[in-house]
Order: sequence, then C-alpha cells, then structure tokens
Amino acid sequence: MVKKLEYAIETYNLRKFFVDIHAVDGIDLKIPKGSLYGVLGPNGAGKSTTIRMLSTILYPTSGSATILGYDLLKNRNEIKKRIGVCPQELVIYPRLTARENIHLIAQMHGIAKKDYKERTDELLGQMNLLNRADSLTKTFSGGMKRRLNVLMAVVHEPELLFFDEPTAGLDPQSRRVVWDFIKEFQERKSTIILTTHSMEEADDLSDALTIIDHGKIIATGTPQELKGRLGEGDNIEFKINNPDMRLDVIERAKMLEYVRWGKNLGKQRIVLNALGGLRRISEIMDAVRVEMYDISVRANTLEDVFIDLTGRRLRN
Ligand SMILES: Nc1ncnc2c1ncn2[C@@H]1O[C@H](COP(=O)(O)OP(=O)(O)OP(=O)(O)O)[C@@H](O)[C@H]1O
Ligand SMILES: [Mg+2]
Repeated sequence: MVKKLEYAIETYNLRKFFVDIHAVDGIDLKIPKGSLYGVLGPNGAGKSTTIRMLSTILYPTSGSATILGYDLLKNRNEIKKRIGVCPQELVIYPRLTARENIHLIAQMHGIAKKDYKERTDELLGQMNLLNRADSLTKTFSGGMKRRLNVLMAVVHEPELLFFDEPTAGLDPQSRRVVWDFIKEFQERKSTIILTTHSMEEADDLSDALTIIDHGKIIATGTPQELKGRLGEGDNIEFKINNPDMRLDVIERAKMLEYVRWGKNLGKQRIVLNALGGLRRISEIMDAVRVEMYDISVRANTLEDVFIDLTGRRLRN
C-alpha cells in the first residue's frame, strides 16, 4: 500500500548561499498537505530564495527536501509537472494579449485546446480581466499585470502552488480579489505556499505560517498560536518628544503590574503591551510622566510577534 502523504513539503537544513550572503541559512519546514502556508518576513529575509529552491528554479547550496513525496535534488522533473509558481517578478509576454498569455502557458503544459479555451475565460473573469482579455499586456496597469501573473501559475491546476508576494502593489479591492482566488484553490485541495511581508495577509489567509529573518526561521505556528504567545494584552503604541527617554518610559510603565512588556520601536516610538490597555491609558500616562501622543491601541498582530522576537518592525 502507498503511504498517504502527510506533508506536501519537508525540508531539512536547507541552505542557499550567494558567495558570502547567507540568503537561506538552514531551514527546516514541514508543510501539511492541503494547507495554506504563509512565509512571512522583512525584505531580504530569504523568502523568495526559499520559494525558488522549493520550486526547482534554484539549486540549494546544501540540505535536502521532499516535495509531494519527490526528492528535490533527484526528481526535479516530477516536481515541475505538479507545481505552479507565481514569481515575485512579473513573467508576462508584453506583446501578447492576456488571453494569449494564458493559452501559451496552457500549451506549454500540454493541455488540449478544447480544455483550456473555456477555462481561460473563466480564470480571466475571476480576476476581473475578461473585458481586457484581448488587449496587449504591455498596455496593462501594474495591478492588472500582477493579477494576470497570478492566473498564469494556476492554468494547469497544480497540486502545489507557490505565490511569491501575489498582492504586492495591489489596491485593497484587487487584493481582496486575489485573496478570494487563492482561497478557492485551497478549497480544491491544493497546497499553497504564500510569501508576503504583509502581516495582515499572512494572518487572514494562512492556516499556519513561518516567520523568517536573516535566512532563519524564528517562529512557526498558526496565526492564533503566534499571537497567543504574547498574551492577551492590548498594544499601546505612541510617540514621546525626547527619544532619550524611551528606556525610562518603558521602565516606568513596567512598574504597573498589568504592563507586560515594552519595546522601543526606534525614533520616538514605543509600544507597550498591557492587559486591558484601552481602559488604562490615563493611568499609564500618569505613570510614565512624559507626554504621550499619536496614541493608538490595538490587539496583538503578527507585527507585534515580529517586534517581540526581533525588537524590530517587519517593515523598514
Ligand atoms: N541571485 C542572487 N545573487 C546574490 N544575492 C542574492 C540573489 N538572490 C537573492 N540574494 C540575496 O539573498 C538575500 C535574500 O533575498 P530574497 O530575495 O530571498 O529575500 P526576500 O525575503 O524575498 O525579500 P523581499 O521581501 O524583498 O522580496 C538578500 O540579501 C538578497 O540580496
Ligand atoms: Mg522576495
């Protein structure tokens, strides 16, 4: 009997070095079959390099991986047939129309014309591109190209899909369209790997996610698990006038028993995590003894998880 595959992807100490740049520095992943798995991290963390290795575009420097049960180093052709990749850099033929771009990909995958004709229009419709199906893509806006780029990864209905920053540069409405599209693929039992530096996207979409920084995994779990590690508190972010006072302000705030932690976010910014923080702002203001302004209060986000782990923001 064939063993049922539990994981779509397993990696073992996967590394990619570009001379002295350790782009991916020993990654161990187990990505359950059928899941929508997020890879979150700041610019340069190694997300795209990881995707490019797992999707057979780049060879790893060392380590190994199994993709859909196939060895990443030995069975590259078997893997290629079963995956779809939406790269971060757009890959679209500018002198072809949107429809021709999709037909071309379908032909490359050996799909019969009768099968891809109708499907192409269905896909274009899902991405609100049907009314521009016959325009040359060089006349497309950035957002339209990005949506077409997403479609081109899925034409052959692969078992495993990689989307590298699929919503970069999209307005909120188009972003929603892409999210719904990606979710629909998961419902059809594909496994989806999604890289992003949008914590909102990672939180909304992922069943589980891994956060990478400097080529290494710094945390893995469901969005709830990761945020839960920070406790139940509210995060109160604010500015103070004198940046030299940041550490004093944090120390003073931590004297309050319900202030669990505080982080210096650089420049004049501070974030405090406080149980019931929203109700207690005036008490906190009294305790820190400096003026707080630009105050915002929010529940834990994945951004806070990242700040907690690294002391830095995910962006910048
Ligand atoms: N072909 C290459 N040659 C040299 N260095 C590279 C190459 N590709 C990536 N790098 C380096 O590897 C590191 C990781 O890059 P990578 O593109 O994987 O990051 P990323 O997490 O996808 O970032 P972003 O959010 O900006 O897309 C960076 O320091 C980058 O400069
Ligand atoms: Mg990238």
